[in-house]
Amino acid sequence: MIGFFDSGFGGLHVLRGITKRLPGYDYIYLGDSARAPYGPRSSEEVYAYTKQGVEFLFAHGAELVVLACNTASSEALRKIQQEYLREGSPKKVLGVLIPFAEAAAARTKNKRVGVMATEGTVRSDAFKREITKADSTIQVSQQACPLLVPLVEAGEQDSARADELIRGYVAPLLEKNIDTLVLGCTHYGILEGKIRAAVGPDIKIISEEDVMPDGLASYLNRHPEVEQRVEKKGTVRFYCTGDTKAFNTLGTVFFEKAVEAEQVTLGAQAV
Ligand code: DGL
Repeated sequence: MIGFFDSGFGGLHVLRGITKRLPGYDYIYLGDSARAPYGPRSSEEVYAYTKQGVEFLFAHGAELVVLACNTASSEALRKIQQEYLREGSPKKVLGVLIPFAEAAAARTKNKRVGVMATEGTVRSDAFKREITKADSTIQVSQQACPLLVPLVEAGEQDSARADELIRGYVAPLLEKNIDTLVLGCTHYGILEGKIRAAVGPDIKIISEEDVMPDGLASYLNRHPEVEQRVEKKGTVRFYCTGDTKAFNTLGTVFFEKAVEAEQVTLGAQAV
């Protein structure tokens, strides 16, 4: 199985695109909805919770785990990858940063890239690090957008307040004359229409839904030893740590298909 880890529901929007592009594989999704959002949490918490999530997915049959959550990718991916590598484990953990960074470096013409993300992701500077690793001449401007995740989770993505918040968040990035904008959070793809309206037609917008299906397809192509071990019956299983009713209701909006999750507990699960 291909494991997907997210702090909550947002990763289902990414998984939706992936199951369309790569429908033949078996997927297992875990959303740590009891402890979401991760954006305002400390690096230590995000690392500890992400590690528990990855271990759960491996214990339940995943051959490969994708961290759909940008905050988890930014705060925990490198450390977790190094740990598995040190143990000589065949288990693989991937994140969203490198596909995003490569796409941003390939698309920017004026070498000015903006990133919208959670506070935790911005604080980690992980996007800045990876984008400049892909092209050291790029100037990266980051904007934390702490009110967008709660807005989407409250179902207010089509509201006038969404327009107002987005205009406020993109203004400092537009002042930096960016030509490319990375939507560095699972939830922002849902707001892409409004973000497009706020930045105008000329800025290239890169979302997780754009880069992850091809990123994963290319990884599986380059790693037949992993690809061959993944079962291929086209199934999707869902787990969450919080209330299943809330997860299924919001999850169905993000996944655009019925979601029926089973509730699990990770570690001591301090909230
Ligand atoms: N999944 C998170 C991300 O992509 C957004 C929600 C959260 O803060 O937990 O950064």
